Amino acid sequence: MKDSVRALAAEFKQFLSTRQEDDLTPAACSRAAAHMSEPPRTTATPERQDHLTVEFVRESKKSAKIVSSAAPVSEANTNTSAEAALIHDSSFSFKEPVMSDAEKQTLLNQIAEEIKACRRCPLGSTRLNAVPGEGNPNATLMFIGEGPGFDEDHKGRPFIGRAGQLLDKMIAAMGLKREDVFIANIAKCHPMVNPENPEAHGNDRAPNAGEIAVCRKFLERQIAAISPKYVVALGGVAAKALISDTNSLGALRGKFHTLHLDSVELKNPIKIIATFHPAALLRNPNWKKDAWADLQMVMAEMGLKRPQG
Ligand code: URA
Repeated sequence: MKDSVRALAAEFKQFLSTRQEDDLTPAACSRAAAHMSEPPRTTATPERQDHLTVEFVRESKKSAKIVSSAAPVSEANTNTSAEAALIHDSSFSFKEPVMSDAEKQTLLNQIAEEIKACRRCPLGSTRLNAVPGEGNPNATLMFIGEGPGFDEDHKGRPFIGRAGQLLDKMIAAMGLKREDVFIANIAKCHPMVNPENPEAHGNDRAPNAGEIAVCRKFLERQIAAISPKYVVALGGVAAKALISDTNSLGALRGKFHTLHLDSVELKNPIKIIATFHPAALLRNPNWKKDAWADLQMVMAEMGLKRPQG
């Protein structure tokens, strides 16, 4: 375990034991930034490779239904070439070779380019930068938030503001690095209260139902490409969009659910747990213990140990 990870984990422990609203020191922030700039680590194992095997089942003469966790069902005109290569019109079931990390990264890059070009909803015209998401293309664990804020809009990267720095500490407390996981959002562009002023602070809002619906397919394709085993939904917007829009975060959190996607039938089940959004933890330090309990459930499932020291 690297010292930088230990230090971040120790700071998160300290954060848990204090009721102060903001214990994000400048030193901690710059360590987090330095940590984030380290190159991604590849964590492919034979088990993960088996997990990525995809299988296609004939559904009709014209289209084959994908029952894979690694490739989404997409409309023909929106398939990337990598996805299209995986969709075969065959009258029998067969197994495709696994996607390598490089192939997954290529697919994720293609999806990111589509997101950057997207103007399907008004957010596409008011954003400064689209924020597709980032991380390990072969991640076992994904974190999904609601949508980019001011900092993310300016840099085109997810969770890099104050909430993101707390998320880094939460990840480190789990014994992981930011580069081990994949971090994305439900909405890929900054939802603003006043879209005419992207330079204003305090101008963030949650994505609305229409924006979520339009953006959903991008996220589903990312999940299908990565094929994680676990997803952590950060906050009520992500929890409702991914688990159940009829329940509150309070009712959804604290237990695992099975993730169901609208456009992809997952062959390998993905477990999803909801917890508090880091921004909510900054506002309500009383919720930190419950959030940590949720993360510990994920750690237990993944066989992760809390870093020592
Ligand atoms: N909040 C989110 O939900 N996502 C981000 O990327 C940043 C803040």
